Amino acid sequence: MNVLVTGGAGYIGSHAVQRLLRDGHTVTSLDNLYRGHAEAMEALRPASGGRLEFVKGDIGDRALLDSVLRSRSVEAVMHFAALAYVGESVQQPLAYYRNNTASALTLIEACAAAGVEKFVFSSTCATYGEPPVMPIPETTEQRPINPYGMSKLHVEHMLFDHAKERAAVGKPFAFAALRYFNVAGSDRTGVLGEHHEPETHLIPVILQAAQGRRESVTVFGTDYPTPDGTCIRDYVHVEDLIDAHVRVLGALRPGDQRTYNLGIGRGYSVKEIIDAVRRVTGKDFKVVYGPRRPGDPPTLFADPSKIRRELGWTAAITDLGDIIGSAWAWFQSHPRGYGV
Ligand SMILES: NC(=O)c1ccc[n+]([C@@H]2O[C@H](COP(=O)([O-])OP(=O)(O)OC[C@H]3O[C@@H](n4cnc5c(N)ncnc54)[C@H](O)[C@@H]3O)[C@@H](O)[C@H]2O)c1
Repeated sequence: MNVLVTGGAGYIGSHAVQRLLRDGHTVTSLDNLYRGHAEAMEALRPASGGRLEFVKGDIGDRALLDSVLRSRSVEAVMHFAALAYVGESVQQPLAYYRNNTASALTLIEACAAAGVEKFVFSSTCATYGEPPVMPIPETTEQRPINPYGMSKLHVEHMLFDHAKERAAVGKPFAFAALRYFNVAGSDRTGVLGEHHEPETHLIPVILQAAQGRRESVTVFGTDYPTPDGTCIRDYVHVEDLIDAHVRVLGALRPGDQRTYNLGIGRGYSVKEIIDAVRRVTGKDFKVVYGPRRPGDPPTLFADPSKIRRELGWTAAITDLGDIIGSAWAWFQSHPRGYGV
């Protein structure tokens, strides 16, 4: 299949490109490199069999999209490109709505014009806000508490409405909105890794402390109603996450409007993650205990039973040591990330 991967030079998108190439697909990766890494694309090229094309460009550029979708006869889109920091979205809400919502609309319009029939969208558990029920099933009311979550929820709504209209006029269009929990780990062959600038994700932040690149790790809140007082989150390995994308893409039939949670279905606390990093790396580092951050719910973890039931997907890498170990291996071979 000819697949367009937006945000393909980013952390998760590059893992999708890698898996699609391995599965024999032809991949166009489109990324404006605002937060992505051309080095990730170069790392994938040798094993790509000439089936990888990287285009530096923006999903808000309609003329570019028209040209890419048509010239490469794109049959499916995996849409990862987005700004993805909750705190930044509170500081710059309009930038998030522009990039994540308005530019996604441009992408969906271009797909409609080019006759692309399959669309897989990176949504997020942030669309649920602070849900009252744990674990979180897909039927939970979506009430985002920040512009990031809202910018993604708008895209889900656009996809639902567009798919409904396409079905009504007998045109095939199918989409899946995949609501990720916390994505972690790296490709276990060591080619790709996680490199965000700035880094805010818990596991890489702690790994940077273990490497001595950070003076300390701050734990935000130790008085939550959880067994050890720190926040609990659901960490899904990036390879498992991409495996779910591949299954979903294979399963999409005309008219499908699917939503799935992607998580392992259990949570780990911040303290558990810190202990696991110490165990895996054999390094010690300073931990600072600070106050809670506004808008951090005590516990978030997925009910992933819908995708297990419907597509037989379940996360295979659920041991915290294995998840962290894969990330640490890449950190050791790339001590300062891509391009350094
Ligand atoms: N990392 C997580 O734990 C997590 C959790 C839930 C959802 N998500 C979603 O997964 C997706 C990928 O996240 P990630 O962690 O890989 O982030 P990332 O920043 O590493 O990747 C995003 C990529 O999109 C590119 N990009 C952004 N805006 C673009 C635009 N307008 N045009 C072209 N390229 C653009 C960036 O340059 C970057 O390479 C995002 O949509 C994010 O919201 C991530």
